[in-house]
Amino acid sequence: MKQITGDFDIKIARNYADLINKCSSGEINFEERSGAEGVVIFCGDHAIKHPYPGDSKIFNGRLNGLINEFNIGKGLEDIGVNVPKMHGVYVRDDEMPFLIMGRLNITDFEKLSRKERQEAIKQYAEQRVIAESAGYAPGDVNYETNCGFGRKQNKLFFYDFTDWRKN
Ligand SMILES: Nc1ncnc2c1ncn2[C@@H]1O[C@H](COP(=O)(O)OP(=O)(O)O)[C@@H](O)[C@H]1O
Ligand SMILES: [Mg+2]
Repeated sequence: MKQITGDFDIKIARNYADLINKCSSGEINFEERSGAEGVVIFCGDHAIKHPYPGDSKIFNGRLNGLINEFNIGKGLEDIGVNVPKMHGVYVRDDEMPFLIMGRLNITDFEKLSRKERQEAIKQYAEQRVIAESAGYAPGDVNYETNCGFGRKQNKLFFYDFTDWRKN
């Protein structure tokens, strides 16, 4: 395994590199979310994002995507936008890349009360202005997609920066 970026504990990262196999094979079942391009595994405080197992040729493009996601997330955190903590990007020996981030405790928009929805929409607009004013071009995001509301913190969080760009 190779560390590409980030300052996360390398031993824990190695464990997550193995964990991905066990989850993909069904040997263990950590709560998972699968999307169009990959999978997010939840383990303790962390969310681990990786492409589907397969052809190493596609992994290189995915690696660049995860590095972009890491950098955008770090940059957004720096300007005060609520995002997962970006811990690190790694490449396994089979060339599969993965991203380790902090796990958000968020609720999807459709499950919120009326009042919470109003708050989420308000914060969504405010956070988006902060990001755009700093030169970010948000990707696939609206208050029902790629963001969620942290009830405990009363805060809206953005995630999934695959399609975000910085000017
Ligand atoms: N840091 C995180 N904390 C908690 N849940 C997350 C985190 N990142 C992603 N998720 C969950 O995993 C799902 C897929 O992640 P996402 O980054 O949107 O990937 P995709 O590129 O497949 O859309 C999301 O809808 C969300 O529910
Ligand atoms: Mg998404």
